[in-house]
Amino acid sequence: MQDSDIEIRKADTSKIDGIDFENIPFGSVHTDHMLSCDYKDGKWQKPVIEPYGPLTISPAARVFHYGQAIFEGMKAYKDTNDDVWLFRPEENFERFNKSSVRLAIPEIPKDIFMNGLLTLLRMEKDWVQKGIGNSLYIRPFVFATQVGVSAAPSEEYKFMILLTPVRAYYTGDVKVVIAEHYSRAANGGVGAAKAAGNYGAQFYPTNLARQKGFQQVIWTDDSTHQFLEEAGTMNVFFRINDTLITAPTSERILDGITRKSIIELAKDQDIPVEVRKITVDELLEAQQNKSLKEIFGAGTAAVISTVSAFSYKEQNYDLPTVENAYAARLKKQLLNIQHNEIEDKFSWTLKVD
Ligand SMILES: Cc1ncc(COP(=O)(O)O)c(C=O)c1O
Repeated sequence: MQDSDIEIRKADTSKIDGIDFENIPFGSVHTDHMLSCDYKDGKWQKPVIEPYGPLTISPAARVFHYGQAIFEGMKAYKDTNDDVWLFRPEENFERFNKSSVRLAIPEIPKDIFMNGLLTLLRMEKDWVQKGIGNSLYIRPFVFATQVGVSAAPSEEYKFMILLTPVRAYYTGDVKVVIAEHYSRAANGGVGAAKAAGNYGAQFYPTNLARQKGFQQVIWTDDSTHQFLEEAGTMNVFFRINDTLITAPTSERILDGITRKSIIELAKDQDIPVEVRKITVDELLEAQQNKSLKEIFGAGTAAVISTVSAFSYKEQNYDLPTVENAYAARLKKQLLNIQHNEIEDKFSWTLKVD
């Protein structure tokens, strides 16, 4: 796909000078332009990049009634030479289409997704702030637009990409509640997809955790509530003695790109890693005998978030502060690769030329 295959309508002026980049609530400010591409008559149409602004959409569009919507979350980073980088973007593209398939949404062609994104990023380069911890969050999403309140897959969709300058998602350590009753996902369900509804369904139980002073829930399997699975927008890692443990991905768990990168980085740092099921009982035992050293979440938005305390069955447990923590070591290496500060021997990064 050439740039000429995208219709480009530039904004008359840029909002950038009025932005206080130090104080942006996550996801609340958008860049000057957005990309959209409609699916109708059985195919994806010509993508358009136009000034960011509201959409006109029928209240009978199927997304509002049946929730046919999926999304991705990725980031662009700027190095000290003002070059802009993406981190493993093909993985996001592939997961986007995997999510679409599960929600009966037509897959987006790679050239629309990748070249559309690269063209948009070239136009919005100034919005990517330098410095570790700064990035431009990328939100590709697709939703059903066909008019009609009838419970069947839509025949029309809109694919879009929005860009939003961000700093870290959670500031400070995170306290989590281990789920005993509510579930995020079930076998045969949509847990492995980035379905919009997965997130809406977590808000109520997460609010209950918030009311008790916790920010996140660590979800357990839906049938026994014994197996520790993942958190709201993060996969989770447990360090018992010197071994890092994370649950295998499954139909219920999102196959996180940060997770698989952390597994690689840990091996690179000679940290013993085990990808295996881990139970609440094992966690409680490790907490009791003091072999539980760290818990952290890993995801694009949050990067790596250290868990400082957890709650299970109304009991609170504090985690120790460890020196030379795995979370800090792995986060540093990951951010340095993402920001092109160190050599990317894994070939994960892609320069936006
Ligand atoms: C439910 C869930 N788990 C894990 C992750 C982490 O995935 P990634 O590292 O690809 O951002 C995310 C964020 O995308 C998520 O929404």
